[in-house]
Amino acid sequence: MNIVLLGAPGAGKGTQAVLISKKYNLPHISTGQILRENIKANTELGKKAQPLVEKGELVPDELVVDMVKSRLSEDDCKNGFILDGFPRNSKQAEVLDNCLADLNISLNYALNFTCPPDLIVQRLSGRRVCKECGANYHIENMPPKAENICDLCNGQLYQRKDDTIETIKNRLQVYQDTALPLIDYYKQKGIVYDVAADKDPEQIDLVLGQLLKN
Ligand code: AP5
Repeated sequence: MNIVLLGAPGAGKGTQAVLISKKYNLPHISTGQILRENIKANTELGKKAQPLVEKGELVPDELVVDMVKSRLSEDDCKNGFILDGFPRNSKQAEVLDNCLADLNISLNYALNFTCPPDLIVQRLSGRRVCKECGANYHIENMPPKAENICDLCNGQLYQRKDDTIETIKNRLQVYQDTALPLIDYYKQKGIVYDVAADKDPEQIDLVLGQLLKN
């Protein structure tokens, strides 16, 4: 099963991807997470991406495209994958199609997470992330058992630099500027499924379970 996740920042793509990944044993490939790891490791890619990621702007296509191509050619993607955060625009979608054609595979689902903007702001401004393993929490919606400590690895939690109100607004604007042509691109292929993401993760997971069965 080859899945791409579409939807605004904070709609809950990463949260649901973790659940789908466990249930179907598919690798969860988050371009945002790969970029943050590169920023942390101070790689050349990380140095170029950092100012853009922190402002909520998209990183140039040429930087992310090679990163995704190389990840998709790894062995664990042979039985499927969940792409979270890529593609972000129609150009990236075309590149992805070409890359998948080379690997002789095609996409099955473009899951489009929909969520009202006020809920997105609430979710992103309260998000906390583990410095060590990248697990996501929310100070009210999904708090860790011990304050600021990851339940999974005991790592310290932090607030992403792009989760400030100003940057969240910019990310939402960037999303609005690029989302519709991308969704239309996949609608023409008949693989878009809207997912109402303003519910509890468990409820959304049930809906996804039904959808992915078909
Ligand atoms: P990326 O990391 O992809 O960020 P994003 O798209 O802005 O999405 P988020 O991870 O913020 O949101 P999400 O939908 O995964 O929400 P989550 O599940 O965490 O990208 C970051 C940056 O990298 C970009 O701005 C760009 O600069 C760059 N980049 C990445 N890919 C790129 C590309 N292809 N091209 C160019 N640049 C690229 O949930 C959010 C919060 O809500 C959490 O706290 C969670 O606990 C909570 N929550 C989630 N679901 C629920 C729920 N159902 N109920 C209650 N709370 C919930």
